[in-house]
Formats: sequence, structure tokens, C-alpha cells
Amino acid sequence: LKDQPCDFVLFGAKGDLSMRKLFPALYYLYREQLLHPGTRLVGVARGEESRDEFVESIKATLVRFVPQQDFDNAVWEGVAERLHYVQVDFAQAKDFLRLAKFVDQSERVMVNYLATPPALYGDICKHLHGANALTDTTRIILEKPIGHDLESSKLINDTVSEYFNEDRIYRIDHYLGKETVQNLIALRFANNLFGAQWNQNFIDHVQITVSETVGIEGRWSYYDKVGQMRDMVQNHLLQLLCMVAMDPPSQLSADGIRDEKLKVLRALRPITQENVGKRAVRGQYTSGAVEGQACPGYHEEEGSQGASNTETFVALRASIDNWRWAGVPFYLRTGKRMPTKMSEIVIFYRNQPHYIFDPKQKAMVSNKLIIRLQPDEGIRLQVVTKEQSLDKGMALQSRALNLNFSDQEDNRRIPDAYERLLLEAMRGNQSLFVRRDEVEASWSWCDALIQAWEESHDEVKPYSAGTWGPIGSIALIERDGRSWHE
Ligand code: BG6
Repeated sequence: LKDQPCDFVLFGAKGDLSMRKLFPALYYLYREQLLHPGTRLVGVARGEESRDEFVESIKATLVRFVPQQDFDNAVWEGVAERLHYVQVDFAQAKDFLRLAKFVDQSERVMVNYLATPPALYGDICKHLHGANALTDTTRIILEKPIGHDLESSKLINDTVSEYFNEDRIYRIDHYLGKETVQNLIALRFANNLFGAQWNQNFIDHVQITVSETVGIEGRWSYYDKVGQMRDMVQNHLLQLLCMVAMDPPSQLSADGIRDEKLKVLRALRPITQENVGKRAVRGQYTSGAVEGQACPGYHEEEGSQGASNTETFVALRASIDNWRWAGVPFYLRTGKRMPTKMSEIVIFYRNQPHYIFDPKQKAMVSNKLIIRLQPDEGIRLQVVTKEQSLDKGMALQSRALNLNFSDQEDNRRIPDAYERLLLEAMRGNQSLFVRRDEVEASWSWCDALIQAWEESHDEVKPYSAGTWGPIGSIALIERDGRSWHE
């Protein structure tokens, strides 16, 4: 894809996401010489601030969020030259005139990043339009959450689509920007070894775990209305499931990939009130300790408003009703205040049809493909070999074929997901962004599950901070004669 100069306009430039993720990502893109020389980085926020003050505040941010060994003054100077600030109150149409005057769409593509609450998306689009700032090349990047359920997501999408065609809308799911998620495409579609066996004839089941050690980090009032199902499953976990389960696209184009993901979402069997008790578990952490540190329970977190039935953990057993995956359960689990931060996909292969070794070793004989997103990005294939010895006969052992991406690439830093996503949006490649029909199919499945919980008056099950969730999560998988990958 051709690099184009952009006016990268960041709404919510002083917000948490911009500080922690977006400016550091822009810094690294500049350092790696991936920003077009003509690109400008335009911060937009409500506060009155001079350009110098804004630049200073971004420097302070980078010093804080870019590791010391990576912060380089010469690089910073280059970033600083590209930084601009336009003060805009998002509710004031007239302020957008100032922005429209500042950007230059005859020279550059205007790429708007809305790192703001979704409630503001409508106003921002309307006022950009009102100020004549939109051309048919202007792009818009939307952060999650796109809605709270199917209905509200449709409203947001309808409003945005009044001003932008779908091919100008970039919906972020930052998990799609993670290096190993991208590598899944190469692994599956560039290796016949895996490609040919990626189906119910060879695969017994799949597990996807996204565990976090953090709690809700001061976001109680936001999180309590959302919960882990909407915050993590609706987007990140279902996107990972799609990347594992989708059929090979006929081309590596944005719509080629997204068409296949959509088919998976549409093939997900609904979890209903009749089976929700066996298919899905919700938990909420109580006080405990994570990595040796004492942690308060969800109710004692800063900002808590007392009793709440919001889940901080979800485990579920999903089924995909299509030829490839019939009879292959996908077990998903994600939670806050787990023992360790880890995102992992594990493919469990079926056993051989006939077993000829020592019966005591039978449990060991299964292949697993472990795709590690974080930390220690890499892919590990668990295979069975003979134990090396003269006197043990055909004793077996399980060994790993290991591909550790950080080792492999000469210790090169693995870029953060946002670096890739910002770059692709600036280049106009939508492959890593979620299309409207995907968001809606995913909400539709999640809404049914949430409704099943509501109708069955499901109460969250407690688990101590620093454990792998409520006991029901273990029961969910053990009921099928399987267990969570350790
Ligand atoms: C965000 C969620 O989308 O993803 C957060 O809103 C969560 O609650 C975060 O902590 C996890 O992202 P990562 O990349 O740290 O696994």
C-alpha cells in the first residue's frame, strides 16, 4: 500500500488512551521511519492550550510511557515538529471551523481518530460535516465500545454512516493488531501442515484464555455498567475465535478476511436460557492476592457503589455450527485479577485412532498447538517423542517445538498493537478493522447470552483475586471430560 501524507487528527488527545497508547505508538512509528514525511499529528481537545504547552505535555507523556531505553531526544524532536494542537469543544459547531481551516485535504488525507466516549461520535461527525471538513477521502477511526448491545451499536453505526461510507470507517479492536494474531494468518494459510488439519477431523477442541492481573483500574463507574462480557468477550475474544475458526479467504483483502470472520460469527450457536447454566459462567472477584500483592474485592475498589451483579470473569463453551467445526467446542475464558496476565489460544488435537504404547502413558499422547499472544509472543507445538535412554524401552515424553518471536527476531522489540493499527489506518488498509456487520453479528450473539443470564436471574459467582475464576469455570470444561490448559 502506498504511503500517503496524512493529517492525523486525534480527538480526545489529552485522554488516557491517547497518553498511554496512541502517542507512544506515534513516537515509535516516527522512530521506525514509518510516518510519511508530510504527515502531521493534530491533537484536538477541549482545553485552551498553546501549541508549545501541548507539545510539552506530550513530551511528559512520552517520557512516562515510553521505556527509558527507547526514549531518544532526536526522535522526540522529529515528533515534536509534527505535533499541532487545535482547541475544539466537541459540542460547539463553530470550533470545528477552526479545525477545518487547519487541515489541508488537498495535500493530505484527513484521518480522524475518535478516542472519546462513543456518545460524542455523532456530534463530532455532524460538526465535521457542518464545517465542510469531510471529503470523500476523509477517514474515521472509532474506538470500542461500539454500543452496549445490538440496538445501541446500530444507532452509533447509523449516525456515523450518515457522514462516512463503510470503506472510510475503521473500527478498532486492538487485539487484531497484536503480532501473534497477525501471525495466525501466516501460520494457518501459509503452512499446509496446519491448514490441511484445521478441522473437526483432527482437532478435538480449542481454548482461548485472556487473563489479566489488573482489576478495573479506577474505572468502576464505567465498568460496572459494562462487565467482562461486553468489555472483552464481545470484541477481543470473539475476534480471536474468528481468526482461529474462519475459512481461508480467497484473497488477503480486507473484505476477503472480514467476509470469512462474519460467517463464523453467524454460525455461532446461540446460548439460551435452557442451556446457559451449563454453557457459561460469570464470576466476580473478592479480595485476595495477585502476584504477592494484596488486592481489594470488586466491591471495595475505588469508586464502588456497593453491591453489584456485574461480572469480572466469564467462561463459556461456544459451538460453531458449520462443517469445519461441528462437534468441536471452543472454550473461552477471560477475567480480571487472575494469577497472571496472559493471552493464549490452545488447539488440542485428537488422539491417534489406535494406541500401541504403554497404557500408563496414554494421557500424554495428544498434540497441542499453543499460540501465545502475550507475554512471550510465540507459537509452541507440543509433540510426543521417545525418551532418550537405553533401558526404558519406548518410554514417551511430551516435548515442545518452540518459536519464540522475540528471540527469533534478534531481540527486536515487538510493536504494540496500536502502532500497527494506526499505520494501517493511515495507509488505508481496513483488513485489521472490524466491519459493521461483524460488530452487529457479535452483539447479536452476546445479547442472547446476556438475556439468558438475565432471564435465569444468574448471580455472579465469587472468586478470590489471584485465582482462575469461580469453581463453575472448572466444572464447565470438566463436564466434557477436559480441563483448562495450565
Ligand atoms: C480493553 C479493555 O479493550 O482491553 C480493558 O477495555 C482491558 O478492560 C484491555 O484491560 C486489555 O488489553 P491488553 O492488550 O492489555 O490485553
